[in-house]
Amino acid sequence: MSGHRRHALITGAASGIGRALAVRLARDGWHVAVCDLDHEGSRETVALVEQAGGTAQAERLDVTLPAEWEALRGRLREQWEQIDLVVNNAGVSGAGEVGSFPLADWRWMLDVNLFGVIHGCHYFVDWLVANPHGGHIVNTASMAATVSAPSMGGYNVSKAAVVSLSETLYAELRHRGVRVTVLCPGFVPTKLLASGRWHRQALRDQAERLFAEARLTADDVAEATLRAMRRRQLYVVLPLRGRIFWRLKRLMPQGFMTCVARLIRSTD
Ligand SMILES: NC(=O)c1ccc[n+]([C@@H]2O[C@H](COP(=O)([O-])OP(=O)(O)OC[C@H]3O[C@@H](n4cnc5c(N)ncnc54)[C@H](O)[C@@H]3O)[C@@H](O)[C@H]2O)c1
Repeated sequence: MSGHRRHALITGAASGIGRALAVRLARDGWHVAVCDLDHEGSRETVALVEQAGGTAQAERLDVTLPAEWEALRGRLREQWEQIDLVVNNAGVSGAGEVGSFPLADWRWMLDVNLFGVIHGCHYFVDWLVANPHGGHIVNTASMAATVSAPSMGGYNVSKAAVVSLSETLYAELRHRGVRVTVLCPGFVPTKLLASGRWHRQALRDQAERLFAEARLTADDVAEATLRAMRRRQLYVVLPLRGRIFWRLKRLMPQGFMTCVARLIRSTD
């Protein structure tokens, strides 16, 4: 993929994993459209990308709104010769047991975490297919898609669906020159919890503790993503504990879920 200026669109790039990916791509000379609701944060990412040797533009985007996606695609098609990479990464968090997690929060979670990704794929797949150098889609799911921990239903469902969507796209696009990668990271300390919808304070406190203990960084995820893109890997599962869970679930699904149910208790 050398010789032409590479263009990437990253959602949720005002912060965390999306920002780290933008900066990592900048080191390889990419041009990045930093897309997010948080325009101030996007502008900070643009400055960081430029410091790292790339170029970038901040684009205000609510991933839940098809009209905004359509308008963004129109603007970028006027400015860019081709698109090489779409990273559907914007996401939100929250927790509450099925039955008490409000339906409005279920819809919000699926709207951002699942429909946000569906929209990015829907509006950009044809342009990626048209890229003579071959395009790439990266979707951010989570280790939550494997573990299905209690009290995390909305988040788990949204992320499991992103894995399934990515697998479907992988099979659909393999012979059309577009590669697909799905990220399934464990806990990474970012701003993710701040905007979450927590049914009880204890759930938020528990998530804060897990974030505080996490050793995986957004930069680690960005580095692993670039490696997977080079190797044309579908799955990026990290850290090592996540890969162990991933294998165990496939080896003995019932036993794995029995352990989850025994070991991870909902906080009262
Ligand atoms: N941090 C973790 O532990 C972790 C683990 C696994 C997966 N993930 C996933 O990684 C992705 C990035 O999260 P992060 O941890 O970097 O969190 P973050 O909060 O730092 O970044 C998420 C970004 O998404 C943006 N966003 C939220 N709703 C949006 C919308 N409707 N339209 C556009 N942008 C929107 C936010 O403004 C924010 O900048 C998410 O999909 C998250 O679920 C995070």
